[in-house]
Amino acid sequence: MSTNIDTSVGQRQTYVPTQFDADKAGAFVGKVVTDCAATVSVALAVIGDQLGLYRAMAGAEPLTSGELAERTNTSERYVREWLINQAAAGYIDYQPDTGRYSLPDDRAVALVSEDSPFYVGGALMIALAMTKAEPRIRENFRTGAGMGWGEHDQYMFEGCERLFRPGYLANLTQSWIPALDGVQAKLERGAKAADIGCGHGASTIILAKAYPNSRFYGFDGHPGSIERARTLAQEAGVADRVTFEVAKGTDYPGSGYDLVAYFDCLHDMGDPANSIRHTREALAPDGTVMLVEPAAGARVEDNFNPVGQFYAGASVLVCTPNALATGTEAIGTVATDDAVRAVAEQGGLSRFRRVLETPLNRIFEARI
Ligand SMILES: C[S@@+](CC[C@H](N)C(=O)[O-])C[C@H]1O[C@@H](n2cnc3c(N)ncnc32)[C@H](O)[C@@H]1O
Repeated sequence: MSTNIDTSVGQRQTYVPTQFDADKAGAFVGKVVTDCAATVSVALAVIGDQLGLYRAMAGAEPLTSGELAERTNTSERYVREWLINQAAAGYIDYQPDTGRYSLPDDRAVALVSEDSPFYVGGALMIALAMTKAEPRIRENFRTGAGMGWGEHDQYMFEGCERLFRPGYLANLTQSWIPALDGVQAKLERGAKAADIGCGHGASTIILAKAYPNSRFYGFDGHPGSIERARTLAQEAGVADRVTFEVAKGTDYPGSGYDLVAYFDCLHDMGDPANSIRHTREALAPDGTVMLVEPAAGARVEDNFNPVGQFYAGASVLVCTPNALATGTEAIGTVATDDAVRAVAEQGGLSRFRRVLETPLNRIFEARI
């Protein structure tokens, strides 16, 4: 196809190709429309989560918009439109003959069951929170400035906890800890462990529940997260063996740790090698460092999949900005194994290996 239209739009000059494949262009436009529709639906899914619309539908008989509104104490006029979007998105089903909507269990487990490995509520929440950072990050592209973790929308912090916690529940004590050399036995006997960049402390609390003879110390640079972690530890009944404190990876207190864990936070740090250097000093001589990092490939093109797209987007909107706000080094959310190894080695840990991989995470062990 060739085009010959005015290329000036006000002061903006625009490029109009004269030769291109119109079928391919049409297919691409279709893809973008799908992405735009999905972006809108993410906001509506968070509304469904926060207002209990999914919870009210889970396990229930098919409902009309009026019945769902009544059960959730919401406005029927809004619920009616929400249901159409959700059915179009394939999140819920519609029965044209009765005008009723239902949430099948294979989707309810993903939208409602917070402890299930299928749970996606956190992913939806954090995706929405990330998009809210767009004005700041757009400006940062020009200035090179950073944006601290704590400057994000509130949904970021809870979304992060709800995103990662199901994976920790399913894997941490079942396969990740057992994959580390000798660590499980130490934790069972009674060990001292630190959780750096612990956020709301999901991983710390899961470990404290599983290993009651051990003592756990969670540290994070974000005061709001530490406050929340303390509350959650109380609620989980482990406050007697877990301590949460505001501290950075480079200055957290204590020594003689048998295990120091970094769950999805090394790549957020602006001085990751200094944090590992500090950890080396705080580690017991035969201690272990566990680095849990997002799934990523060895080559750029290995990240060309939905998980890679999500993490590379998070790198732009959240992780790299935090690193640039707090230091000068930013390894990126999709850092290769070699890049993570280099940080460990710069920090003085010479024995480094990848012990496991899940669809969302890579697990590394590093020792002195
Ligand atoms: C993606 S969140 C992960 C939180 C938690 N580990 C989890 O898995 O749910 C990254 C966390 O690292 C923290 N963080 C970033 N840089 C840090 C630093 N230099 N020292 C301590 N915490 C840091 C942030 O405040 C945030 O809570």
